[in-house]
Amino acid sequence: MSLYWRIFLLNAVVLVVAILLLLGPVTVSTPVLFGEALVLIVGLVVMLIANAVLLRIGLAPLARLTQTMVTADLLKPGSRTTVTGHGEIAELTTSFNAMLARLEAERATSSGRALSAQEAERRRIAQELHDEVGQTLTAVLLQLKHAADRAPQPVREDLRQAQETTRAGLDEIRRIARRLRPGVLEELGLYSALRALTAEFATSRLSATAYITPGLPPLAPATELVLYRIAQEGLTNTARHARATLVEVHLRALPNARVGLLVRDNGQGIGVAAEGAGISGMRERALLIGADLGIGQGPHGGTEIRLQVTGNTADDRLQENAR
Ligand SMILES: Nc1ncnc2c1ncn2[C@@H]1O[C@H](COP(=O)(O)OP(=O)(O)OP(=O)(O)O)[C@@H](O)[C@H]1O
Ligand SMILES: [Mg+2]
Repeated sequence: MSLYWRIFLLNAVVLVVAILLLLGPVTVSTPVLFGEALVLIVGLVVMLIANAVLLRIGLAPLARLTQTMVTADLLKPGSRTTVTGHGEIAELTTSFNAMLARLEAERATSSGRALSAQEAERRRIAQELHDEVGQTLTAVLLQLKHAADRAPQPVREDLRQAQETTRAGLDEIRRIARRLRPGVLEELGLYSALRALTAEFATSRLSATAYITPGLPPLAPATELVLYRIAQEGLTNTARHARATLVEVHLRALPNARVGLLVRDNGQGIGVAAEGAGISGMRERALLIGADLGIGQGPHGGTEIRLQVTGNTADDRLQENAR
């Protein structure tokens, strides 16, 4: 039934009941007697309440739709309003659900494209750092060595010092390049890459350990990259925000050929902090490969990031463009 007829009939029912009462047991004399006025006022209040209740029931699907509209989040897809009955509200709900599905698909495609472009750009910068700046510094290092070998004693010490500084710069550039593009991921595979990544975050105040169950189902390269980047952001967040003394990265097999990644710290917890670019980036990457991402409190307090991916059947969009 259309919204128009629904509201019309609701009001008609209330008015017809009122008229039937006036024609039947209720009478009104002129001037109105106190008892009659009382009955009329009580009748009016009852009518208004009945009207309000019936309208509330009639418009409930609209309220549900509004609620979904307010809470819809493209990074947490799947929230839909149940379509009840026929008529305009049902049509509106169906159209809204279809629009949400279309927006989610478009969002996934466009964020896939953006992330691919970002990975490609990172790879290019890493390559250039390695090939251009790295080669130049290596050449400088050799020249310094050459000069130091032939220089008189007082200058030699200075040249050795310059050599050390250049070597430190070279190491730094290699580290930045490695971080920009997880080369270890391609060279040594996900397990070593995750171990190396976790070890990078260990300091005297933060113990960082990776626990990787052997014999995990094979993963698509795009999935491995997502796991790596999400672990990287999780560890960065722990180092930056958690005030933790312990952080663990777990990679383990789950039922149905699924793999679970956990990044768990014992810090102050994420609480109700607003999500920034880091966490929404995690959500976008997870969406891209159809993985489930959960962020919340761990079993012993602190923050826990849980990611579940499916082995070997994951979407390869990232891989196509970024690798
Ligand atoms: N492990 C954690 N422990 C405590 N708080 C956290 C943790 N991870 C995230 N947070 C909180 O969640 C917020 C959002 O994190 P998010 O990674 O999205 O953004 P960010 O780290 O502030 O900035 P960036 O965009 O550089 O990542 C943080 O500002 C922080 O307050
Ligand atoms: Mg962050």
